[in-house]
Amino acid sequence: MNKPPNTGKNDSAIDGGKDSPKKNVLENPVKQALENASMDTLAVRAGQRRSAEGEHSEAIFMTSSYVFANAAEAAARFSGKQKGNVYSRYTNPTVRNFEERIAALEGAEQAVATSSGMAAILSTFLALLKSGDHIVCSRDVFGTTTVLLNNYLAKFGVSSTAVPLSDLSAWEAAIKPETKMLFLETPSNPLCEVGDLTALVSLAKKTNTLLVVDNCFCTPALQRPFDYGVDIVIHSATKYLDGQGRSMGGVALGRAELMEEVLGFVRSAGPTMSPFNAWVFLKGLETLRLRMEAHSASAMALALWLQEQAVVEKVFYAGLEDHQGHSLARQQQRAFGGVLSFRVAGGRQEAWQVIDSTRILSLTANLGDAKTTIVHPATTTHARLTEQERSAAGITENLIRVAVGLEAIEDIKADLARGFAGV
Ligand SMILES: Cc1ncc(COP(=O)(O)O)c(C=O)c1O
Repeated sequence: MNKPPNTGKNDSAIDGGKDSPKKNVLENPVKQALENASMDTLAVRAGQRRSAEGEHSEAIFMTSSYVFANAAEAAARFSGKQKGNVYSRYTNPTVRNFEERIAALEGAEQAVATSSGMAAILSTFLALLKSGDHIVCSRDVFGTTTVLLNNYLAKFGVSSTAVPLSDLSAWEAAIKPETKMLFLETPSNPLCEVGDLTALVSLAKKTNTLLVVDNCFCTPALQRPFDYGVDIVIHSATKYLDGQGRSMGGVALGRAELMEEVLGFVRSAGPTMSPFNAWVFLKGLETLRLRMEAHSASAMALALWLQEQAVVEKVFYAGLEDHQGHSLARQQQRAFGGVLSFRVAGGRQEAWQVIDSTRILSLTANLGDAKTTIVHPATTTHARLTEQERSAAGITENLIRVAVGLEAIEDIKADLARGFAGV
């Protein structure tokens, strides 16, 4: 007779793998019912597996390893002949729950969760590129992505060229025979420039390159890059997927054939997502659309108000009709998101004075939080760029970025007005 596992006889049922002897109680009926479900339903229900305890909210499986019924089962699991959990660097039920839910929302075949957004970007690069390959990357991506390419990927023989996000002829001109990947964020940080997904997908197809989109600013609630035919979507889950600034995490999504490569790298190198963080993100996804709509509505109201302030020279928000990316953003996005930036009259001193006079807004570089954040890009998020690079990217000394949270918009305006009074 088989020796029962000593930490609970339902472990294998929880994994819900095809060959699992006891099926997850809810998995099959829920999966069938969700086939035609809307995004709102998927955000709350997709990926849930329920243990024999009958918990309603998703359980957190804080375990590094799993026990086997007997030595033969251990051998079968290790050889891959039997599906099921072995070790949490390979699989974890809570992490899988998050992966299935975000994949359902993005419309992806497969998702691979990672320990941070940068880990998702690194894992995608290292799994899918090799020495001698070349990447064309938008100049307007998160600064650490540029550092990763210039300081680290370059050491291993992967070169890159930076191009302005919205200059399609620059993308085309930068592609060489060894180019394997095109990488961008849209809208961009902090000037909200917009990349043309339809045009870039056709360029990627024509040149046989993989198109990777960091969808962190919009999330699938506002923009679904797979609907345009992109190959890979990346998220820093740390931002809006969490939504309350609590946990670090990331995810790469795409066709199974590509994600199997990324998964292989993550399992071997180890930048896995913690089960606790996966649970935080699962809960974040349940309210994602409602939050993104609220962030967008408040950011729009703030952008319009900022335009009327005498000390504000220019506001950058794709929701404004005079913004260069407005009509493209209208086509690609359901709303314009929570991040905007503006230039105050003067220079660094005036910008710092506005920031230092606020009392409610948090002075921090993070975004995607219920709490509104304010930052001076030229001396923080973009400080590593040279002065010339900053000026080419439009990051002037008088620029301030605000990631609008969920506080009452009148309180956010009043806090900024406090700062404007002194300029
Ligand atoms: C657009 C974007 N992508 C990626 C990242 C990196 O994510 P993480 O900080 O989770 O590593 C960030 C972080 O701010 C970001 O803003």
